[in-house]
Amino acid sequence: MQISIDNKPDPNKLLDWYDCNAREMPWRIAPKNRLAGTQPNPYHVWLSEIMLQQTTVASVKPYFTKFTKRWPTIFDLANAKDDDVMGAWAGLGYYARARNLLKCARLIAKNKSGNFPQEIGALLKLPGIGPYTAAAISSIAYDNPETVVDGNVERVISRIFNVHTELPKAKKELSVLAKQLTPKIRSGDYAQAIMDLGATICKPKLPNCDICPWVNHCISKKAGTSMYLPRKLKKAKKPIRYGIAYFVERVDGAILTEIRQPNGLLGGMLSLPSTVWGDTFQDDPPMDGDWKIKNDVVKHTFTHFDLILKVMHITANLKQAPKRGKFLKPDDFDPNNLPTVMKKVWRSIKH
Ligand code: ADE
Repeated sequence: MQISIDNKPDPNKLLDWYDCNAREMPWRIAPKNRLAGTQPNPYHVWLSEIMLQQTTVASVKPYFTKFTKRWPTIFDLANAKDDDVMGAWAGLGYYARARNLLKCARLIAKNKSGNFPQEIGALLKLPGIGPYTAAAISSIAYDNPETVVDGNVERVISRIFNVHTELPKAKKELSVLAKQLTPKIRSGDYAQAIMDLGATICKPKLPNCDICPWVNHCISKKAGTSMYLPRKLKKAKKPIRYGIAYFVERVDGAILTEIRQPNGLLGGMLSLPSTVWGDTFQDDPPMDGDWKIKNDVVKHTFTHFDLILKVMHITANLKQAPKRGKFLKPDDFDPNNLPTVMKKVWRSIKH
């Protein structure tokens, strides 16, 4: 699909703006250093982009720093224990990303001598890498003229070209338009510049058009429609699921835990024992005992449903064996390694 564009905005104007206004990020090479010849580290670019899928820059920063301190190279990460990586990822959400991260690191370390491929086609074959991430790695790490299209870019492009088609139907159209703006030089800086523009100026609610380097080319600005773009199909209301979490503390301080099924939601993560999450509460305690119930339920929002968890608790003696799960002694149990929903359960007992 080719869409003819009159009077298209100048990528160099955006790059000039980026040179003065680029956000600082621990994985980013600042534009002045990039222009002076500093090359990005593809491991850093890949790791940050996987973390940034569905997670904000502010939330990712401390995780990126923690990961690169603990595993400075792709080989270090490839050699890490699964449990250590899953534990370090706890709190970032979307845990399939962590499982794919490890698979990808091991594959690159073993089969590609630690080097990430540069081309989109080869990147797309790697676990956890879809079209957005492949374009981001190819452009940011290697300066290939690939077009990144995330939510920020969709917003900028829909406004510049005054596209009123609803998302997700508009995706193809927006991506074709975005492609036609992507420059052949400084493509990595351009990819980051257009994301920064969306995040800091062309914001969802109150765009700051007065300081936008592309304001003179923005069709929606002229039409007065910027605030209403991009248009989005109304989301269906989320269903509610119900479950019970069981908190067992043994007299020696050990906590009963379980590892979640590898492929489902929170797959492979350390957890407190819980029932399945369904249309009703279905009691299924991991051991016999005189269970007490907490007054307050724990609530958590996942992408596709809201969860309400009742919390039951007992103290166990040293002789009692659980029907499922494993007791972890205080030295082996770190609540920070729990996914956020289970951290909430932990806090509901401990605070
Ligand atoms: N969002 C995702 N990746 C990004 C990047 N490299 N720069 C700015 N925002 C981003």
